[in-house]
Amino acid sequence: MYLLLKNVHVGLAMLSIGGFLLRAYWMTRVSRMLDRRIVQIVPHVIDTAFLVSGVALVLLLQLQVTQSPWLLAKLLALVAYIVFGTIALKRGRTLGIRLTALLLAVLTFVYIVGAAINKSPESWLAA
Ligand code: HEM
Repeated sequence: MYLLLKNVHVGLAMLSIGGFLLRAYWMTRVSRMLDRRIVQIVPHVIDTAFLVSGVALVLLLQLQVTQSPWLLAKLLALVAYIVFGTIALKRGRTLGIRLTALLLAVLTFVYIVGAAINKSPESWLAA
Protein backbone atom coordinates (compact mmCIF):
# COMPACT_ATOMS: atom_id res chain seq x y z
CA MET A 1 0.00 0.00 0.00
CA TYR A 2 2.81 2.36 0.98
CA LEU A 3 4.82 1.65 -2.18
CA LEU A 4 1.75 2.01 -4.38
CA LEU A 5 0.86 5.35 -2.78
CA LYS A 6 4.44 6.60 -3.00
CA ASN A 7 4.69 5.65 -6.68
CA VAL A 8 1.37 7.38 -7.37
CA HIS A 9 2.62 10.45 -5.47
CA VAL A 10 5.90 10.57 -7.43
CA GLY A 11 4.07 9.93 -10.72
CA LEU A 12 1.64 12.78 -10.00
CA ALA A 13 4.60 15.02 -9.08
CA MET A 14 6.10 14.35 -12.53
CA LEU A 15 2.75 15.01 -14.22
CA SER A 16 2.35 18.22 -12.21
CA ILE A 17 5.76 19.67 -13.18
CA GLY A 18 5.41 18.35 -16.75
CA GLY A 19 2.04 20.08 -17.16
CA PHE A 20 3.42 23.23 -15.58
CA LEU A 21 6.40 23.33 -17.98
CA LEU A 22 4.11 22.74 -20.96
CA ARG A 23 1.85 25.61 -19.90
CA ALA A 24 4.93 27.77 -19.30
CA TYR A 25 6.07 27.00 -22.86
CA TRP A 26 2.64 28.01 -24.17
CA MET A 27 2.84 31.16 -22.05
CA THR A 28 6.15 32.16 -23.76
CA ARG A 29 4.55 31.52 -27.18
CA VAL A 30 1.47 33.53 -26.15
CA SER A 31 -0.45 30.44 -27.24
CA ARG A 32 -4.24 30.26 -27.15
CA MET A 33 -3.87 26.71 -25.82
CA LEU A 34 -3.83 28.29 -22.35
CA ASP A 35 -7.41 29.48 -22.82
CA ARG A 36 -8.70 25.99 -23.53
CA ARG A 37 -11.05 24.69 -20.89
CA ILE A 38 -9.29 21.33 -20.67
CA VAL A 39 -5.92 23.04 -20.15
CA GLN A 40 -7.43 24.99 -17.27
CA ILE A 41 -9.16 22.04 -15.62
CA VAL A 42 -6.75 19.08 -15.96
CA PRO A 43 -3.89 20.68 -13.94
CA HIS A 44 -6.30 21.29 -11.04
CA VAL A 45 -7.40 17.66 -11.09
CA ILE A 46 -3.76 16.45 -11.18
CA ASP A 47 -2.63 18.86 -8.45
CA THR A 48 -5.56 17.98 -6.19
CA ALA A 49 -4.86 14.24 -6.56
CA PHE A 50 -1.17 14.99 -5.98
CA LEU A 51 -1.87 16.83 -2.70
CA VAL A 52 -4.29 14.11 -1.60
CA SER A 53 -1.61 11.45 -2.23
CA GLY A 54 0.86 13.49 -0.11
CA VAL A 55 -1.63 13.84 2.73
CA ALA A 56 -2.48 10.12 2.47
CA LEU A 57 1.25 9.27 2.80
CA VAL A 58 1.51 11.53 5.85
CA LEU A 59 -1.45 9.75 7.46
CA LEU A 60 -0.24 6.27 6.48
CA LEU A 61 3.25 6.89 7.86
CA GLN A 62 1.75 8.70 10.88
CA LEU A 63 4.12 11.59 10.35
CA GLN A 64 3.86 14.80 12.32
CA VAL A 65 4.91 18.01 10.66
CA THR A 66 6.46 19.22 13.92
CA GLN A 67 8.59 16.06 14.16
CA SER A 68 9.62 15.98 10.50
CA PRO A 69 11.57 19.12 9.52
CA TRP A 70 11.85 17.88 5.91
CA LEU A 71 8.05 17.68 5.65
CA LEU A 72 7.62 21.18 7.07
CA ALA A 73 10.27 22.46 4.63
CA LYS A 74 8.43 20.68 1.81
CA LEU A 75 5.10 22.26 2.69
CA LEU A 76 6.59 25.76 2.98
CA ALA A 77 8.42 25.28 -0.32
CA LEU A 78 5.17 24.03 -1.87
CA VAL A 79 3.55 27.38 -1.03
CA ALA A 80 6.50 29.16 -2.72
CA TYR A 81 6.18 26.83 -5.74
CA ILE A 82 2.49 27.68 -6.10
CA VAL A 83 3.13 31.43 -5.75
CA PHE A 84 6.00 31.41 -8.29
CA GLY A 85 3.93 29.21 -10.60
CA THR A 86 0.97 31.59 -10.52
CA ILE A 87 3.23 34.57 -11.26
CA ALA A 88 4.91 32.66 -14.11
CA LEU A 89 1.66 31.62 -15.81
CA LYS A 90 -0.76 34.41 -14.92
CA ARG A 91 0.12 37.26 -12.63
CA GLY A 92 3.54 38.36 -13.92
CA ARG A 93 3.09 41.65 -15.77
CA THR A 94 6.13 41.39 -18.05
CA LEU A 95 7.79 38.45 -19.79
CA GLY A 96 10.92 39.09 -17.69
CA ILE A 97 8.96 38.75 -14.44
CA ARG A 98 7.24 35.60 -15.72
CA LEU A 99 10.50 33.95 -16.80
CA THR A 100 12.16 34.80 -13.48
CA ALA A 101 9.20 33.31 -11.62
CA LEU A 102 9.37 30.25 -13.89
CA LEU A 103 13.03 29.71 -13.01
CA LEU A 104 12.31 30.14 -9.28
CA ALA A 105 9.37 27.71 -9.51
CA VAL A 106 11.55 25.05 -11.17
CA LEU A 107 14.36 25.57 -8.61
CA THR A 108 11.80 25.29 -5.79
CA PHE A 109 10.47 22.06 -7.27
CA VAL A 110 14.01 20.63 -7.50
CA TYR A 111 14.54 21.64 -3.86
CA ILE A 112 11.32 19.85 -2.81
CA VAL A 113 12.33 16.63 -4.59
CA GLY A 114 15.73 16.76 -2.83
CA ALA A 115 14.06 17.35 0.54
CA ALA A 116 11.70 14.41 -0.08
CA ILE A 117 14.41 11.97 -1.18
CA ASN A 118 16.96 12.91 1.47
CA LYS A 119 14.35 13.54 4.18
CA SER A 120 16.11 16.77 5.07
CA PRO A 121 15.42 20.50 4.73
CA GLU A 122 18.98 20.69 3.37
CA SER A 123 17.61 18.94 0.32
CA TRP A 124 20.34 17.85 -2.16
CA LEU A 125 23.07 19.30 0.08
CA ALA A 126 22.28 16.60 2.66
CA ALA A 127 23.16 13.79 0.24
C1 HEM B 1 5.84 19.90 -5.36
C2 HEM B 1 5.47 19.16 -4.33
C3 HEM B 1 6.03 17.79 -4.01
C4 HEM B 1 7.03 17.07 -4.59
C5 HEM B 1 7.90 17.46 -5.79
C6 HEM B 1 7.14 15.82 -3.87
C7 HEM B 1 8.03 14.81 -4.17
C8 HEM B 1 8.15 13.64 -3.49
C9 HEM B 1 9.06 12.57 -3.83
C10 HEM B 1 10.00 12.55 -5.04
C11 HEM B 1 8.91 11.58 -2.89
C12 HEM B 1 9.63 10.23 -2.83
C13 HEM B 1 10.82 10.32 -1.92
C14 HEM B 1 11.52 8.98 -1.81
O1 HEM B 1 11.90 8.42 -2.83
O2 HEM B 1 11.70 8.50 -0.68
C15 HEM B 1 7.92 12.04 -1.94
C16 HEM B 1 7.52 11.35 -0.84
C17 HEM B 1 6.65 11.83 0.10
N1 HEM B 1 5.92 13.00 0.04
FE1 HEM B 1 6.00 14.36 -1.45
N2 HEM B 1 6.20 15.80 -2.86
C18 HEM B 1 5.51 16.99 -2.91
C19 HEM B 1 4.46 17.37 -2.10
C20 HEM B 1 4.08 16.70 -0.96
C21 HEM B 1 3.06 17.13 -0.05
C22 HEM B 1 2.21 18.39 -0.23
C23 HEM B 1 3.03 16.22 0.97
C24 HEM B 1 2.16 16.18 2.19
C25 HEM B 1 1.06 16.84 2.37
C26 HEM B 1 4.02 15.20 0.69
C27 HEM B 1 4.30 14.12 1.49
C28 HEM B 1 5.17 13.11 1.18
C29 HEM B 1 5.43 11.95 2.02
C30 HEM B 1 4.80 11.68 3.38
C31 HEM B 1 6.34 11.14 1.33
C32 HEM B 1 6.86 9.76 1.77
C33 HEM B 1 8.10 9.87 2.57
C34 HEM B 1 8.64 8.51 2.96
O3 HEM B 1 8.66 7.60 2.15
O4 HEM B 1 9.05 8.37 4.11
N3 HEM B 1 4.62 15.52 -0.50
N4 HEM B 1 7.46 13.29 -2.34
